[in-house]
Amino acid sequence: MTIKTFSSTRRAIQAAIAMAGLGTLALHSPLSYAQQQIVIKFSHVVANDTPKGKGAERFKELAEKATKGRVKVEVYPNSTLYKDKEELEALQLGSVQMLAPSLAKFGPLGVKEYEVFDLPYIFPNTTVLKRVTEGPVGQSLFQKLESKGIKGLAYWDNGMKVMTANKPLHKVSDFRALKMRIQSSKVLDEQFRALKANPQVLAFSEVYTAMQTGVVDGSENTPSNVYTQKMHEVQSNLTVSDHGYIGYAVIVNKKFWDSLPADVRTQLEGAMKEATVYANTIAQKENDDALAAIKASGKTKVYYLSDEEKTEWRKALMTVHKSMAPRVGKDLIDAIYKESEAAGVKMN
Ligand code: LMR
Repeated sequence: MTIKTFSSTRRAIQAAIAMAGLGTLALHSPLSYAQQQIVIKFSHVVANDTPKGKGAERFKELAEKATKGRVKVEVYPNSTLYKDKEELEALQLGSVQMLAPSLAKFGPLGVKEYEVFDLPYIFPNTTVLKRVTEGPVGQSLFQKLESKGIKGLAYWDNGMKVMTANKPLHKVSDFRALKMRIQSSKVLDEQFRALKANPQVLAFSEVYTAMQTGVVDGSENTPSNVYTQKMHEVQSNLTVSDHGYIGYAVIVNKKFWDSLPADVRTQLEGAMKEATVYANTIAQKENDDALAAIKASGKTKVYYLSDEEKTEWRKALMTVHKSMAPRVGKDLIDAIYKESEAAGVKMN
């Protein structure tokens, strides 16, 4: 429930009681959250039929059940309420209570450390990713949100990105001079510059039209996002490259969260925990199914990099770890390398 709704509801009730002649008494009766339905507006930019979309719907179901209807979760998918940048501002203003932005979108908020997730090949496997998101690194990143009036609740997976364009993308030189849409991350900007392409930040909701009209030549995203936004209908070629990761931080307006009755907050934390397990369990399959559907559509040629091509891409893109260390923090990159080493993978 927003403060605005609370006070307007309170005013309406006070007015009704005053009209019934009970004014003075009623005005001194505090109206507690206990009698109110608490509304959580959960805004996001992707389709319902994606790992995040399904996770949000599952959270709604679990939260409403756990609180026996005391909390109502309204999910607004597909940028129906806000686009990328606006939704973070809306969360800080309290116009919405919950979001799950891609980890690549926290830079403009002033928390550039999240862009560490955008470094190419930073996660050699999901074990390392989980060690990061579920361990001290993930927690320390959540801590950085608090001064922005935001609280981090969970990390949700989408998956590994593919590259798309209207030409085959096999070799590094195939990217030269291509206009590539990126999320608002300086690491992603640097990644495409390392490939000699021209990166361009665009809101997710604008990508399909930009591809259709030639404003951009291509992009990178997960198969589930490509398929549900129909990007494969306006891109002739897709390369399975596994060069980078897309995941989310589920975040809430801190003031709102802290003001919840303790029992409700505990119930919501339980619902979030369960929804997180669900979202992270389905993510890989959602992307596998989406890639299969893209292939079946016959609209896009799907290509898998050869080992030689993978080596060439990796050589060009690993330079970004070094060039972006001053931005995201060398200590943070080293902390992730350490998690890799602890999981038995040597990084550099
Ligand atoms: C994008 O903007 O490309 C995506 O990360 C959107 C999303 O939330 O998955």
